[in-house]
Amino acid sequence: MQIHTTIESLRAARAQAGRVAFVPTMGNLHEGHIALMQQAGQHADCVIASIFVNRLQFGPSEDFDKYPRTLQADCDKLEAAGVAHLFAPDETVMYPQPQRYHVDPAPAQVSILDGEFRPGHFRGVATVVLKLLNIVQPDVALFGKKDYQQLMVLSNMVRELALPVDVLPGETVRATDGLALSSRNGYLSATERAEAPLLYRLLTGIAEAVRSGDHDFLKLETDAMDLLAARGWKPDYIAIRRRADLQPPIHADDPLVVLAAARLGTTRLIDNLEI
Ligand code: PAJ
Repeated sequence: MQIHTTIESLRAARAQAGRVAFVPTMGNLHEGHIALMQQAGQHADCVIASIFVNRLQFGPSEDFDKYPRTLQADCDKLEAAGVAHLFAPDETVMYPQPQRYHVDPAPAQVSILDGEFRPGHFRGVATVVLKLLNIVQPDVALFGKKDYQQLMVLSNMVRELALPVDVLPGETVRATDGLALSSRNGYLSATERAEAPLLYRLLTGIAEAVRSGDHDFLKLETDAMDLLAARGWKPDYIAIRRRADLQPPIHADDPLVVLAAARLGTTRLIDNLEI
């Protein structure tokens, strides 16, 4: 695998490649990321990954400084997964001057769910992903359903700005106890790690209840929030939404997804499940 730290070097490599699939990440790679790399390999001759911890998408009190940076271990995993090129710029390459131009996603999409609790987060994500797509110029780009709202915001950005790339979603990869893999899971203490799969169990319970005809969505959401709070979690939201736009469901046949975000100790976990 070739590692590129400059835009020029990455572009020169891209120019030699045929059909390219691109998987942007912030590193500290786990099986969820690697599954995206392998899926990417099925759609192109050449897989390009990126690792860049993007300051723009972190709030002032969030974990930018302590976000785990594990470049050597990440390179080993990417190499083993058959990734041909890694773009790993530092901040002076991605942001040589303050980023004055931004992508502002539609307010209806970023005033809800994670956007409500992380103001500016999706603006930072959309801005860096547009920039990465312009640098890499891939044919397809892959994003995980683990970050469901991010996938929606980026799919809409690509469509509304007519970017010449196909967005492909990847399924969420979980630990055997159901916990969605995340770079932030490493922040959990042993006790918290044992408690963490509760979030997925609650989502599974809600999905089963809805499938078997329970349509009191508000009660399902509130009961789950209350249960988390009673066990010491600090839930931000548990919400049953339409898959298409993450707004509250209107029609009985709207395809649904249940999404959750909650803090366990100081770690904020998110997860979701299509119903
Ligand atoms: P990061 O959290 O590193 O995730 C990189 C990609 O891996 C995202 O598309 C994410 O949805 C996916 N992913 C994370 N955990 C997953 C899991 N358990 N199963 C499947 N896919 C998973 O998301 C970001 O980075 C950043 O916001 C980024 C898009 C790179 C922009 O900075």
